[in-house]
Parts: sequence; C-alpha cells; structure tokens
Amino acid sequence: MKIAILGSGNVGGTLAKKWAKAGHTLSFGVRNPQKPEVQQLVRTLGSGASASSIATAIDSGEVVLFAIPGGAMEQTIASNAKALDGKIVIDAANNMGGASLNSFSAFASHTPAARAYRAFNIYGWENFENPAFDGMSADLFYCGPDGESRSTMDKLISEVGLNPVYVGGPQQVELVDNVLKLWFALGSGQHMGRHLAFKVLKR
Ligand SMILES: NC(=O)c1ccc[n+]([C@@H]2O[C@H](COP(=O)([O-])OP(=O)(O)OC[C@H]3O[C@@H](n4cnc5c(N)ncnc54)[C@H](OP(=O)(O)O)[C@@H]3O)[C@@H](O)[C@H]2O)c1
Repeated sequence: MKIAILGSGNVGGTLAKKWAKAGHTLSFGVRNPQKPEVQQLVRTLGSGASASSIATAIDSGEVVLFAIPGGAMEQTIASNAKALDGKIVIDAANNMGGASLNSFSAFASHTPAARAYRAFNIYGWENFENPAFDGMSADLFYCGPDGESRSTMDKLISEVGLNPVYVGGPQQVELVDNVLKLWFALGSGQHMGRHLAFKVLKR
C-alpha cells in the first residue's frame, strides 16, 4: 500500500518503521524534506521511503496518516481538501488545547468524502514501538466508517503489533478520545507511567 505520513516525529517515525517492515511504500509529508533528521529517517527505512512536501505526499498516498500537532490540523486539512477526497485518512493528532481532541469536524466540513478514522491517538508512541505486554498485544481502540476500508485499518494496526478493536462509526470518536483521557488519568494522574495500555477481556 502507498501510505502518506504527515509528520516524521515520534508517532509518524515509529509507525513508519513498522509499516516499512510490512513492505508498504511510505511518503513523508513534511514542511522541510531536506531536514537532516528527516533524511536520516528516510535512509533507515530503505528504498520504499521518501520525503516530500505535504501536498506531494498526500497525492501519492492511498492512506494518509496525520501525525502532526493538533493545532496544525484544520489548516492542513483545508489546504489539501480536494486531494484528500475519497482517501482513507487516519487522525492520530491530539489537539490538547482545542475544543475537541480530534479533527473529525474539520474532515467533515472540508473533505466530507474522505474516509476518516480515529486511531493511534490513545497511547504514547512507546507503545506503538513496543506493543507487547507479557507476550500479549495491547488493544488499539479505533473508530470510523464500517466499510471495506475497515479491513485496511485492521491490517495497518495489526502490522504495528497492536490488536485492532473497532468501536463503531465516526459517531464514536469521543469514546475513543475518552480512552486517551483514561490513559492520561492512570499514566500521569496515578503515576503508572507511559508504558501502559488496555486489553478487553471476554468470555
Ligand atoms: N507523542 C505521543 O506519544 C503521541 C501519541 C499519540 C498521538 N500523538 C499525537 O500525534 C501528533 C504528533 O505527535 P509527535 O509526538 O509525533 O510529535 P513530534 O515528534 O513533535 O512530531 C511532529 C511532526 O509534525 C511536524 N509539524 C510540526 N508543526 C507542523 C505544522 N504546523 N504543519 C505541519 N507539520 C508540522 C513536525 O515537523 P517539523 O520537523 O517541521 O517541526 C514533526 O514532523 C500530535 O498531534 C500528538 O498529539 C502523540
């Protein structure tokens, strides 16, 4: 699959390493593709990876991961609205100071035909790098359209080493964000640390 990764920091870089191993073609969309850290990351990922402007990366991707600051989301979505049309877009950004942690309303108003998923936002990036706890894969709760693109999401989440748990359509976005709030309440509020994740038990 061709994946555009907007942002090459903790989240973008970590998920890119997993998806490169799975054989995907990765295109980082960044403000400065020549930045030494970006170039170094691209080199470590091998021949399937490249870096370009945000617009060029979006054009080349079937899937677009947003791993940029939450405050930059609305502008980035609005500026690239047409190119995002119809693509699978993954909102991993948390707009900590904003009215909402997620950017679903910006996707809905600027690019309503994009298939927006809320995923990879509920844990610290360390748990994307190492999702195994005592040999068990952490669950990753996510939401978005219940179409054929859902199986793409399951695959991308599984390739990171996490167990995908679909919690419903886009109307469940606040529920997914509340899992992040629980993660913060335990990890930070109760000092359990960042190497913390959740698992659904059932019988
Ligand atoms: N850190 C975590 O554990 C974690 C976990 C889940 C979700 N998130 C969310 O994921 C997003 C990325 O977090 P991160 O920890 O990966 O951040 P990070 O390491 O600081 O990386 C941010 C990336 O976004 C780019 N960027 C900064 N400002 C931008 C702008 N105005 N327009 C476009 N690109 C811009 C940066 O590029 P430059 O090099 O050009 O500055 C960098 O590539 C945030 O929304 C965060 O809330 C973080």
